[in-house]
Amino acid sequence: MRLLVTGGAGFIGANFVHATVRDYPEDTVTVLDAMTYAGCRESLAVVDDDIRLVEGDVNDAELVARLVAESDAVVHFAAETHVDNSLADPQSSLRANVLGTFTILEAVRRHGVRLHHVSTDEVYGDLELDDPRRFTESTPYNPSSPYSATKAGSDLLVRAWVRSYGVQATISNCSNNYGPYQHVEKFIPRQITNVLTGRRPKLYGKGANVRDWIHVEDHNDAVRSILAKGQPGRTYLIGAEGERSNLSVLRTLLELMGRDPDDFDHVVDRAGHDLRYAIDPSALSAELGWKPKHIDFADGLRATIDWYRDNESWWRPLKDTVEARYEKRGQ
Ligand code: NAD
Ligand code: TYD
Repeated sequence: MRLLVTGGAGFIGANFVHATVRDYPEDTVTVLDAMTYAGCRESLAVVDDDIRLVEGDVNDAELVARLVAESDAVVHFAAETHVDNSLADPQSSLRANVLGTFTILEAVRRHGVRLHHVSTDEVYGDLELDDPRRFTESTPYNPSSPYSATKAGSDLLVRAWVRSYGVQATISNCSNNYGPYQHVEKFIPRQITNVLTGRRPKLYGKGANVRDWIHVEDHNDAVRSILAKGQPGRTYLIGAEGERSNLSVLRTLLELMGRDPDDFDHVVDRAGHDLRYAIDPSALSAELGWKPKHIDFADGLRATIDWYRDNESWWRPLKDTVEARYEKRGQ
């Protein structure tokens, strides 16, 4: 397959490209990435000779049309992905997530190319801590932040292009990912690199918020299954039964790093902070036979800590700028 991977220099996209080169050597991979602050050439260094990297914006209709015309399938990861940044600058999220997806959709429509659109469980809003329900394909959309609202908008565009124009597209909505190559602005890598640089970890509010953690390799494995066996027009929810409060993740992380589990700061909470996300992944397992491999969270976290310890040159240049931005917000 000739794959076009948008956002392939970001966290999940780069891991997807690594896995594709390793497990599907017959595929050819072109990465289209605008190299925003979140895109990193270094993340693709190990596959440099195996792929083509095109620096460009998914809003560049001419470039997108040309690359799509040369492809059998597009896996669309490119997005502005950080909730805190979307609160400070919502327009960037709107442009990348909504208009960018529109541009991709128009190109795959024109050239009759298969699309897989990568999205998030945050489109469903949040759940109470004691709500027995989890998100399923039929949960109504109810996004809270500019990030999740623009991802919801992109999903709805995909659905409309399937219905109105017969575009061959699937959508996946996944829970919170962790693993190597994640930007140090995000929760888990921020806390690991805070400890590694002698800072104290920072917990928003009381840390009662629950996220449903999945290892990035499991997410990408599921995306690959959907690409191969998913039904065009369908939405698939990806999760690994990994619900944990932020406080418990932070305490586990500190213990694994040999620190006192209470050695962190409580900081200003996020505006509109979603309380709990939880995915019911049973439809994906039943229909496509997908199962997560990284089922021991502490093991996955330990390996992730080791990766950040061993790859300081990858994250060190980003760290001070990210922390300066957080400090200005009291976080
Ligand atoms: P990331 O922020 O690490 O990477 C995003 C990549 O997209 C970067 O390389 C950036 O340069 C690129 N990009 C941004 N705007 C672009 C544009 N206009 N044109 C071309 N490239 C552009 O994000 P991530 O965590 O790897 O997330 C990838 C996708 O997965 C996103 O669509 C996100 O909504 C979705 N997702 C993420 C998570 C998670 O926990 N990180 C969970 C579920 C879904
Ligand atoms: P994040 O990684 O930003 O992902 P998302 O907001 O998309 O779920 O944050 C995960 C959780 O961690 C979220 O509840 C906010 C919280 N958080 C902190 O407590 N401290 C931090 O420094 C950051 C970045 C996030």
